[in-house]
Amino acid sequence: MQETKRVIFDTDIGIDDAMALLFLHYSPLVELVAITTVMGNASIEDTTLNALYVRARFGIDAPVYRGAGAPRGPALGEGYPDFVHGRNGLGDIARSVPDAGLSPLSAAEAMVALAQDHPGELSLVAVGRLTNVAMALDLCPEFPQLIKEVVVMGGVFAFAGQGGNVSPVAEANIGGDPAAADRVFSSGMRTTIVGLDVTHATQMDEAFIAALRERAGDAGDFIHETTRCYFDFHERSTGDRICPIHDSSAVACLLRPELYQTRSLAVRVVTDGIAKGQTIAGAADAPYLVDAWRDVPPCKVCSGVDGDAVRQLYLETLSRAG
Ligand code: BDR
Ligand code: CA
Repeated sequence: MQETKRVIFDTDIGIDDAMALLFLHYSPLVELVAITTVMGNASIEDTTLNALYVRARFGIDAPVYRGAGAPRGPALGEGYPDFVHGRNGLGDIARSVPDAGLSPLSAAEAMVALAQDHPGELSLVAVGRLTNVAMALDLCPEFPQLIKEVVVMGGVFAFAGQGGNVSPVAEANIGGDPAAADRVFSSGMRTTIVGLDVTHATQMDEAFIAALRERAGDAGDFIHETTRCYFDFHERSTGDRICPIHDSSAVACLLRPELYQTRSLAVRVVTDGIAKGQTIAGAADAPYLVDAWRDVPPCKVCSGVDGDAVRQLYLETLSRAG
């Protein structure tokens, strides 16, 4: 029998983040321990409110911890992507303000306290800027040994020519706080990186949303409602009414790693200049003329995926909500 994963979900919630949160909530293989918020798809006020709203609407027990409202270092671009996620980050659906669920600790403090209380037991799924995780590393040098594993949605490595989504070489979560990502990827934590190389190979269409509406009850209706502007944005960008399944891919990789091909590589992030936010993977023991990758502990970087199996897993899991 597969072991239960005890998960801290770090999120800039966000339309696809909300889908990933429901994936975790309805998975029989997950105990959701905490939701930690970060700015990104919207302001920290909105992402925290979105987390509280989804928590209340779907009866999620895990507490919410508010995190960083600004990146750690210079970011690529300014403002929030309201043209993708709506002004409130959830496709501008009407939200009520829940009066419970927010805990007093900050996201980084909560990550450290939970890891210290449960050494070697917790999986961290990080699907936004890595600001909170970098802050946890600053607060607690032993954090890499205390956390069981980290799965990050972020970055792009051009394995099959895939480019970035906020510059030719940068993905949004990494471009939004390159210094934090570089800190996390070099930290020695057991890290798997689920980048655009595989999330763009796992697309959803309106038939997939219709199947969710049919099988996932209120969760299906919620996903339908919030993804209207998400589909519109992608259709405007590519001409096709399909969207990559970004953040839920990190959850799928946590639960079913065999659906992904990975390579063990040292990953550094460009923190300045026109390539700001680029994730560059190298071999830690290669005889490069520069030292940047030398002795950097490797991450597992996803290079391929069974996209059909990921979609099926999502659909089957969400059917438990119906
Ligand atoms: C990532 O950026 C955010 O907009 C999404 O939620 C996802 O985490 C994709 O590049
Ligand atoms: Ca996200």
